Amino acid sequence: MSNILSIGVAVLDISSRVCGYPEEDDEVRALEQRVSRGGNATNTLVVLSQLDHHCSWAGVIADDLNSVFIREDLGINHVGMEYVSVCNNHKTPVSHITINSETGSRTIVHYSDLPELTLADFKRIDLGRFDWVHFEGRNIGQTENMLMHIKDGFDSLPISLEVEKPRGDIDRLFCFADILLFSRVYARSAGFADAQSLLESMHRDYPETLHYCTWGGQGAYLMNREGKMVHSPASNIPEIVDTVGAGDTFNAGIIHAHLASKGEREGLALACKLAGRKCMQTGFDGLG
Ligand code: FRU
Repeated sequence: MSNILSIGVAVLDISSRVCGYPEEDDEVRALEQRVSRGGNATNTLVVLSQLDHHCSWAGVIADDLNSVFIREDLGINHVGMEYVSVCNNHKTPVSHITINSETGSRTIVHYSDLPELTLADFKRIDLGRFDWVHFEGRNIGQTENMLMHIKDGFDSLPISLEVEKPRGDIDRLFCFADILLFSRVYARSAGFADAQSLLESMHRDYPETLHYCTWGGQGAYLMNREGKMVHSPASNIPEIVDTVGAGDTFNAGIIHAHLASKGEREGLALACKLAGRKCMQTGFDGLG
């Protein structure tokens, strides 16, 4: 059991399952609707908590009614909120998610007016308590400062960085991470047709880092420090139910595998299997 800190967001997800993705200006009936807590960092922590780790979230939360729902969910999932900054006069971020039951795809419209965590907030965290720190690749300027702060005083603390969205200057963060977790969306936006070419390029630029990349139905790839590529196929899923947070679940699997000292191939397979199980069910319950 390890102590894990993650920096990122918590969101209210309003998910509607539809039978076939609507056309623009259509009006369709949802087959079902669900309100849940989401957000990459907190999704990852909720899964890690089920894998018996002590998890803490550092992020910003509003003080509206929806934030009560988020706090309750994180409380139920034993995610510590001692490093959460409360921001008055702002709203809880909301994602309207349309899940196409034919394909399992999830289309997200996200709204947030919440400020991001600052270096000053981050410096209040007792980093000495933690065995692992996981960052969402966002809020680039402040996150870079937080990463430098870790390198200054807590150099041996392992750092994983999720690189999911192609945010401007996100590559400024890469040199600080021990583990980079890339998405297919990021790889394509950076001009790579497949995971292997992204990982080869990243390994050339950052040879001391472990590079992972997920590729949906093709599974996931790892490029290790020796420049060896490892692949794990995706689980065989009879019916995709809900892919929201599958990447966040994969990231939890990788972090867990490292903390449990699993081998490279075994760790990658474990993370793929966990992400596959998540796609077969709604939400994150019972993944531990
Ligand atoms: C899934 C997710 C959702 C959230 C959105 C934020 O990875 O974290 O829970 O609404 O992405 O980008």
